[in-house]
Amino acid sequence: MRITIFGTGYVGLVTGACFAEVGNDVVCVDVDGGKIDRLNRGDIPIYEPGLEGVVVRNREAGRLRFTTDTAAGVHHGQLQFIAVGTPPDEDGSADLRHVLTVAGSIAEHMTDYKVIVDKSTVPVGTADRVREAVDRGLAARGVTVDYAVVSNPEFLKEGAAVDDFMKPERVIIGSDDARARDLLHSLYSPFNRNHDRLISMDVRSAELTKYAANAMLATKISFMNELANIADRVGADIERVRIGIGSDPRIGYHFIYPGAGYGGSCFPKDVQALARTAHDVDYVPQLLQAVEEVNDRQKHYVFNRIREHFAGHLSGRCFAVWGLSFKPNTDDMREAPAGRLMESLWEAGASVRAFDPKAMAETRAIYGEREGLVLCDSPEAALEGADALVIMTEWNLFRSPDFEAMRERLAAPVIFDGRNLYDPDYLADLGYAYYAIGRPVQAPGNPGATE
Ligand code: UDX
Repeated sequence: MRITIFGTGYVGLVTGACFAEVGNDVVCVDVDGGKIDRLNRGDIPIYEPGLEGVVVRNREAGRLRFTTDTAAGVHHGQLQFIAVGTPPDEDGSADLRHVLTVAGSIAEHMTDYKVIVDKSTVPVGTADRVREAVDRGLAARGVTVDYAVVSNPEFLKEGAAVDDFMKPERVIIGSDDARARDLLHSLYSPFNRNHDRLISMDVRSAELTKYAANAMLATKISFMNELANIADRVGADIERVRIGIGSDPRIGYHFIYPGAGYGGSCFPKDVQALARTAHDVDYVPQLLQAVEEVNDRQKHYVFNRIREHFAGHLSGRCFAVWGLSFKPNTDDMREAPAGRLMESLWEAGASVRAFDPKAMAETRAIYGEREGLVLCDSPEAALEGADALVIMTEWNLFRSPDFEAMRERLAAPVIFDGRNLYDPDYLADLGYAYYAIGRPVQAPGNPGATE
């Protein structure tokens, strides 16, 4: 099939590459000429496991092309995917400017039947707005061309995006047009494993499904973070509680890990946008508001622990920070708890020696050569002379370090673990003061805390 994808961010690039991988003829369009040049050289702007191979292979086979030429893009595909960004507006609602601009461009150039597919995460009712924009564009040209607008939200996880796309748990197709639905069914049939993964529904339900999924996952995390805070105060261990409740299949083990707060490009933005949608229809989304508030508070958890340990004296101290991306296997730092932590440490007059397996370039791009930040090229180097180690992302590399050797490098054996990676008893035996999330603190004295 001939497919055009507008937007070469995470969603657009993965979608385009994976459609090409199963034999489709794909053109990806982006307004960013620099990005298109890079992609045409086989240089992938983001780190995503497996993506480079798929892009390069399909580009060389001629099934995947990149261009800034919008008109050529519109002419190419019978299926026109909109996968551009929807950043949050001031009030938390999704900014549809880019989506509607693409809709206008499609209307400007289309001459035959097109299926316009909303792939970006967009609020309920966006398909109608896309339709209005296309109708306006066609009317301005004084032509009538048949087309359909379909909602086909993406559920990919960063760090596993290619796999998620190639082996989806479900593909949601929201369409009121039988011809468009059939085309999407054929398009996605190569991705059905064992049984049909396609779930068809009306457009608005499909739009809401995406937000519902992310809001539910974010709720699970905030719930566990809330329980971790209660566990702290009643002297329980949230890790035991997690295992205890996860064994109930109605609850399950997935997505109940307490931590330093959820980040990334989706959860914070989507919870806010869904709350905004609710307000717009005169409904007060109490649970969603709480999910967000709990998460905001959680992003201060590790910093508060650090401040308590050092009795508020952070000025002039230095902290090793392991893990900067919002989660492992990505270099994405959007809404990363590590960012918030470093900013709090700097405000308190402390400095940071930071290491991440993939996000060093991104950290440099965001924070530059600022005072109080030393970018280190190994986890060990980050520890050198630091008053404590702080772990913000659970990269595998951090799971089993040499604690004895680490103690030699650190100024004091203190670990603040925002991801509950280690066994508190084991670390206590080694003489570490170990602060995790929602777990009893094993602090032999208060090493390093005296002025
Ligand atoms: C998420 C959804 O999982 C995906 O389906 C959707 O399409 C986009 O949003 P992503 O943003 O890539 O994907 O990250 P995800 O793996 O879901 O993690 C989000 C955040 O939640 C991370 O900061 C992670 O550390 C945190 N998290 C996750 C927890 O704190 N605890 C958990 O148990 C799980």
